Amino acid sequence: MNAIRKPIVVVGSINMDLVARTPRIPLAGQTLIGTDFATTPGGKGANQAVAAARLGYPVEMVGMVGGASCQANPSGEASPHSEAGQDVFGQALLDNLAASGVGTAAVERAAGPSGVAPILVADNGENLIVVIPGANGKVDCAAVDRQAALIRSAGMVLCQLELPLETVSRVLAICAGAGVPVMLDPAPAAPLPDRIWNQVAWFTPNETEAAFYLGKKSEPEEAAKRLLERGLLGVVLKRGGEGAYVAVAGGKAEWVRPFSVKGIDTVGAGDCFNGAFAVALLEGRDPWTAARFASAAAAISVTRRGAQASMPSREEVDDFLVQHKV
Ligand code: RIB
Repeated sequence: MNAIRKPIVVVGSINMDLVARTPRIPLAGQTLIGTDFATTPGGKGANQAVAAARLGYPVEMVGMVGGASCQANPSGEASPHSEAGQDVFGQALLDNLAASGVGTAAVERAAGPSGVAPILVADNGENLIVVIPGANGKVDCAAVDRQAALIRSAGMVLCQLELPLETVSRVLAICAGAGVPVMLDPAPAAPLPDRIWNQVAWFTPNETEAAFYLGKKSEPEEAAKRLLERGLLGVVLKRGGEGAYVAVAGGKAEWVRPFSVKGIDTVGAGDCFNGAFAVALLEGRDPWTAARFASAAAAISVTRRGAQASMPSREEVDDFLVQHKV
């Protein structure tokens, strides 16, 4: 079956998340005693790739982890003083992608450390994330050009903004030249050149990100209208507990309301939505049905800890939809 499906290609970040659970997010200058710590694979790009692969879709990842050309000292251990010796997580990140069904042939090893993300998750579900790009910051245009054939072969390309902006722009240009639709998750929000807007099929900001691009907070109806005017084909405004507002250029605009679940960890939930939304679109569902499917996947993910660790399988999403009478 995979032979007739063009893969989803994710060009994006691969991080190790260093997650501390705390009673609440501390104030500046404050020390809190936490309750739990976990080292767990993340990165918006890798999360979206794993989300799609767990749903049974062929997925290829383009990106970088650290640990290239480890210089071993006489005892056989990587020297902590070499750039390569600073990488602790590269192999584990690659192994986790592969174990989740994501193709890793286009993930390169860069000298130096892999990307990491110290994260605080508070008991009320709030989180706070800092990303240190590491190898992700070395994914340059030349790296993307090396994978241009793979990118052109995609059914859809998923990007986020945790790689250098010129790299993302290069991916969009390759896709535009080959007629490959792109889903751009503008996270973390950063200024984008005007030329990219009509190279993006689906733009999926959360509320803060949408406000960043529009210069002010707006009601979803207004935000979607103004974003679509820039040349996008479709917009998904991810509004957490309110659901998702899905609008297509020259067509319908409607809310997809969320499922009610008891969430314990929302890290990666937006990524889960994007991966599942891409799968459902490529399987031929209309955008609102696809968003409903993605919303179910994301709802399951928030009931579990970790980003990639929380991504549900196809069976889990199908069962969830049956249980919720969809
Ligand atoms: O979207 C969640 C992700 O953001 C985390 O996994 C973290 O690595 C950062 O990239």
